[in-house]
Amino acid sequence: MAKILILPGDGIGPEVMAEVRRIADTLAETHGLAFEFEEGNVGGAAIDAEGAPLAEETLQRALNADAVLLGAVGGPKWDSLPFDQKPERALLRLRKELGLFANLRPAIVFDPLADASSLKPELVRGLDLMIVRELTGGVYFGEPRGIEDIGGGQRRAVNTQVYTSEEIRRVAAVAFELARKRGNRVVSTEKANVMETGVLWREEVTALHAESYNDVSLEHMYADNCAMQLVRQPKQFDVIVTDNLFGDMLSDEAAMLTGSLGMLPSASLGAPDAQGRRKAMYEPVHGSAPDIAGQGVANPLATLLSFAMMLRYSFDHGDAADAVEGAVTRVLDRGLRTPDLVQPGTTKVSTREIGDEIRREISKTE
Ligand code: NAI
Ligand code: MG
Repeated sequence: MAKILILPGDGIGPEVMAEVRRIADTLAETHGLAFEFEEGNVGGAAIDAEGAPLAEETLQRALNADAVLLGAVGGPKWDSLPFDQKPERALLRLRKELGLFANLRPAIVFDPLADASSLKPELVRGLDLMIVRELTGGVYFGEPRGIEDIGGGQRRAVNTQVYTSEEIRRVAAVAFELARKRGNRVVSTEKANVMETGVLWREEVTALHAESYNDVSLEHMYADNCAMQLVRQPKQFDVIVTDNLFGDMLSDEAAMLTGSLGMLPSASLGAPDAQGRRKAMYEPVHGSAPDIAGQGVANPLATLLSFAMMLRYSFDHGDAADAVEGAVTRVLDRGLRTPDLVQPGTTKVSTREIGDEIRREISKTE
């Protein structure tokens, strides 16, 4: 049986995860999903219980699981800890140890929320794009790095952008594979006009495309232009693939087109093993929201949609993922909203209530 490790974490993490677990139970009945769920501590919860943000045993369980679903980590209680002991360290460690080099960030505008965007509704209605960000290379990890004194009261800071052919090709392959299951279009983004890493990026993506993916349409776009196009005409995009730094910014920019932090899922994928199965971690984009934690008002949909991505990408349960996404659309269509999404004319519901309604909608369609 497929094993899923659940790491609820801190703040609203446990509340939203509880709803996802209940919805997973419903899906077990309606769609015959058979998963073995395990739970562990991560972040501040792990610091309190086990003395470190990610215990070795939890890491081992993550490595042995078929997929990891994480809530959120962090909060004021642990803010004064030194950098290398903070809850957030657990995320970096998990990414590194699981070899999660491809970060998938969809930006989907659910129809009933089209006017939550800062862009005009007609620009974003129906938006469904996917940003694939390289996650383990590039300037955040490249050597040399550091700050040094260079005399005369001056200091010098260095970071280095490094990419190998292999690092570029494996993340581009993820983007091409995804595109085949979506709109069949990839935009590859770099700054080949001013950066050698951009030149190599463009050459490797072009070569891989010619070798293995010439059925997918490929366009190259400079990252600054891509940033503009995202706010000018976001619906022109299907899949965007880019490096770690540009991906960090472009994915946040794309996220805001949807206007709803509580609705944004993500997936991080590693290399396929001999059986073709990838290590994977799924998590909402939002943090632990300490300002509303414990009140039962958090929006569980980002975590639920992350679970739907898990069903689709780790377990090939596209039907169950569709059922979840369809139920989310219908519940929003009926005007039910957690407080973060409430607008005039909609009905405010709690975390538990929206979870109940999602379960009802999933059961109805079966
Ligand atoms: P945040 O995402 O936790 O919250 C930002 C704002 O959005 C808050 O007003 C919050 O109430 C609201 N919000 C976020 N998610 C929501 C949801 N599901 N439903 C309703 N409202 C929601 O970001 P913030 O405040 O910058 O960080 C809080 C803590 O979370 C910090 O300790 C930070 O380090 C951590 N964090 C953790 C992340 C992770 O685990 N991946 C990512 C971002 C922040
Ligand atoms: Mg960011």
